Amino acid sequence: MDIATTPSALVPAVGYVHGYSQREGRRLGDQADTLAQLLHAGTTYPAGSRVLELGCGVGAQTVHLLRSSPGAHLVAVDQSEESLAQARTHVAHIAPEAQVEWCRADVFDLPFADAEFDHAFVCFVLEHVTDPRRALARLRRVLRPGGTVTVIEGDHGSAVLHPDSAHARAVIDCQIRLQSAAGGNALLGRQLQPLLAGAGYGGVEVRPRTVYADRTRPGWVDGFTRSTFIAMVESVRDNALAAALITPADWDRGIADLHRTAHDGTFHYTFFKAVAVNVPAGHVRSPRLS
Ligand SMILES: C[S@@+](CC[C@H](N)C(=O)[O-])C[C@H]1O[C@@H](n2cnc3c(N)ncnc32)[C@H](O)[C@@H]1O
Repeated sequence: MDIATTPSALVPAVGYVHGYSQREGRRLGDQADTLAQLLHAGTTYPAGSRVLELGCGVGAQTVHLLRSSPGAHLVAVDQSEESLAQARTHVAHIAPEAQVEWCRADVFDLPFADAEFDHAFVCFVLEHVTDPRRALARLRRVLRPGGTVTVIEGDHGSAVLHPDSAHARAVIDCQIRLQSAAGGNALLGRQLQPLLAGAGYGGVEVRPRTVYADRTRPGWVDGFTRSTFIAMVESVRDNALAAALITPADWDRGIADLHRTAHDGTFHYTFFKAVAVNVPAGHVRSPRLS
């Protein structure tokens, strides 16, 4: 069945393909902790600066932001009240002394004054919004001139498996198609530079950050291949079967083949981390090449 004919009832209502279950909250925490060094390296904000974390979810990245920039003033925003409640509890547990302002809001309708923030941090959010370029343009309004945005996204097209398997690729493809049907894009990482430039940012610099896991790196196999990537794909099982994108037998075979890459194979995936500057209109600098 083509995804275009999938009944909309099969797609999560708010456009977040993984939903807001406790299991998904745990997966986001595992993911953030496993990837913290890889993704947060190089991101520190000066004491006293005002930082907006957009799409904070359950606070999984928030605790790492607080750790790297203990003196910054953090405002964390998400559209989900349920996630914000979990984020508050999580941060109070891990960093009880931290002062975070929590705010329920939509990226397309941010309740902040122009130029209110020095920096913004956006991780794994744009892949779930219908118009990421417009979201970035809206975000620019609340950044001061010269302020920066950091955007981190994955790209499921970067998954390279050994042993390779058409069945494993089919289950990954279910996730890509369901995310697309929900208005998102699981192949967004490769687009960050043009998206940021198109939204009016200057000095755009994108650094790919690669995960490679084999049995000599058990931390990556458990933390990334199993607990992050396979867990994420598994979370769309019911929607994939309900939409008849795949048969139950083929789903089970694909998941088993993904687990085989964790057991005695290899798994590679690339994240894309971009930093860009809110340059005043008419002063857009060329991207630095490196
Ligand atoms: C994959 S989660 C990532 C959460 C967190 N950044 C992390 O890396 O753990 C995506 C989050 O973006 C939020 N989100 C999606 N669309 C949004 C929108 N239009 N406005 C605000 N938040 C949004 C969802 O509610 C969800 O919590």
